[in-house]
Amino acid sequence: MKIGFLCASLRNNSINKRLETALIKRAKALGAKTSIIDLAKFELPLFHGDIDTPDTVKNLIENMKSYEAIVIISPEYNGGPPPILKNVIDWTSTVETGHITGPVYGIASCTPGPMSGIMGMRQIAYILNRLGAQVVPTQVGCGMASQAFDENGALIAEPASTLADKMLTSLIERATHKAAS
Ligand SMILES: Cc1cc2nc3c(=O)[nH]c(=O)nc-3n(C[C@H](O)[C@H](O)[C@H](O)COP(=O)(O)O)c2cc1C
Repeated sequence: MKIGFLCASLRNNSINKRLETALIKRAKALGAKTSIIDLAKFELPLFHGDIDTPDTVKNLIENMKSYEAIVIISPEYNGGPPPILKNVIDWTSTVETGHITGPVYGIASCTPGPMSGIMGMRQIAYILNRLGAQVVPTQVGCGMASQAFDENGALIAEPASTLADKMLTSLIERATHKAAS
């Protein structure tokens, strides 16, 4: 089972990168092989219909298609997905949707405040579903980031910790079932 982890924040000290690292550790403990889909390596211009599709779009699609499951870990901006993630989805969807319909998707979000990104995650799930993705229903909302991790970076806050195990277990089960069918 190969799971790709895509963080929609490139910021140094990103709390979503912190959550990504914690989820990768959990996924490894569940027996999965993990890789980071680093958007810094797939630099994309802001989508504009007159720009020829950059090679990075095709490279990113191929990379995403190589996973049986993908976890998107994303900040919430003004109640929705951040532009970097929407730009990735918009650019790649102009070429094909195999990278959306192939892997099974999980969604997670980390916020400094208590709301845990539920509005953003809901919209990300909606967009992925609309493109034909299978998205596991359990989303890992992790609020109050400054208290959510221990000194080793492990996710300790509840309910985020329980949700993380539930989401990853469900992701692996569904992706295994999909690969076999
Ligand atoms: C443009 C903008 C909009 C934001 N909107 C929200 C929001 O709707 N909900 C929320 O919980 N946090 C919001 N935040 C705060 C982010 O959750 C916070 O900056 C967080 O640290 C970003 O994630 P990162 O650390 O992984 O980059 C917003 C931040 C920015 C820059």
